Amino acid sequence: MAVNFNTGFVFLMITMAAAAAAGFSVVAADSPKEIIVKTVKGQKLCDQGWECKGLSKYCCNQTISDFFQTYQFETLFENRNSPVSHAVGFWDYRSFITAAATYQPLGFGTTGGKTLQMKEVAAFLGHVGAKTSCGYGVATGGPLAWGLCYKKEMSPSQDYCDEYYKYDYPCAPGAQYYGRGAIPIYWNYNYGAIGEALKVDLLNHPEYIEQNATLAFQAAMWRWMTPAKKGQPSAHDAFVGNWKPTKNDTLAKRVPGFGTTMNILYSDSVCGQGDVDSMNVMISHYQHYLDLMGLNRDEAGPHEVLNCAEQVPFNPSYKSSS
Ligand SMILES: *[C@@H]1O[C@H](CO)[C@@H](O)[C@H](O)[C@H]1NC(C)=O
Ligand SMILES: *[C@@H]1O[C@H](CO)[C@@H](O)[C@H](O)[C@H]1NC(C)=O
Ligand SMILES: *[C@@H]1O[C@H](CO)[C@@H](O)[C@H](O)[C@H]1NC(C)=O
Repeated sequence: MAVNFNTGFVFLMITMAAAAAAGFSVVAADSPKEIIVKTVKGQKLCDQGWECKGLSKYCCNQTISDFFQTYQFETLFENRNSPVSHAVGFWDYRSFITAAATYQPLGFGTTGGKTLQMKEVAAFLGHVGAKTSCGYGVATGGPLAWGLCYKKEMSPSQDYCDEYYKYDYPCAPGAQYYGRGAIPIYWNYNYGAIGEALKVDLLNHPEYIEQNATLAFQAAMWRWMTPAKKGQPSAHDAFVGNWKPTKNDTLAKRVPGFGTTMNILYSDSVCGQGDVDSMNVMISHYQHYLDLMGLNRDEAGPHEVLNCAEQVPFNPSYKSSS
């Protein structure tokens, strides 16, 4: 063991010296990526290694780490490790980008060219920032500088076990399904469904979400990428314009854009309620992140596509709880 370790170390030293002599940087992020390009039936497909793997048209575009790097993550979430934060040391860039690697071959942050790609990352993180913020008007840096301050609901008033789903998603003894994650997950049936999708036993171990930031981001991205119901768009599709509204959608004032992503993810707890705070806080985070990423906030589009105040909710809740 010791011999192998030493051999490996010496090898690394030589490699670094050789690279330095040749004028290359050995920092992984700076080294040129190897992009595999194949044309299949006239369509260009690519593979960019770990971050965008498996021959997809989306992997021919830049990947998220090309335009959204550690320092930008730090700028967006500058207070997340402050002493008053409730998730010190939990969230980090590496978890975000590792989770994103699962969805970039499917178009997450890789659709439509650089501006739209950056907008989608800002929009997704706008949801995350608003949902995990502990910012108040008087807090350092202003209320928008406190995203990723929480990883779970602090004083749950109940276990969020819905007996109606006891056959499909039975609550595990002692398990609590309170809000956890980057876009918080509540209720046994949501933990159950997301656990199935990610092949992690979240029904018996909902606590995994508050123990593993990569998993927490992955769960949020899965929700962003997945329609709540057949025939409905995912937040991703509604945002990047893959979704074409039906006549019903138009009558319901649902148009492609950020507003509809809130409708898909939160329905009547946020949308169709007029000019409410819960909605405006998400829009403000999204716009703030566009600013910080160096995009003009006008890129977010006009008020009609940004908000969902007058939209008819996609899937109104049968519960009165929010
Ligand atoms: C990749 O980016 C280009 C613009 O640079 C865009 O036209 C194209 O639609 C993008 N590919 C996909 C699959 O979204
Ligand atoms: C955290 O979750 C990721 C994604 O599901 C998984 O690959 C990783 O093994 C997990 N880490 C730990 C320590 O369980
Ligand atoms: C459109 O809305 C009407 C009235 O709510 C409903 O009956 C109908 O099924 C909807 N059509 C589609 C395609 O969703």
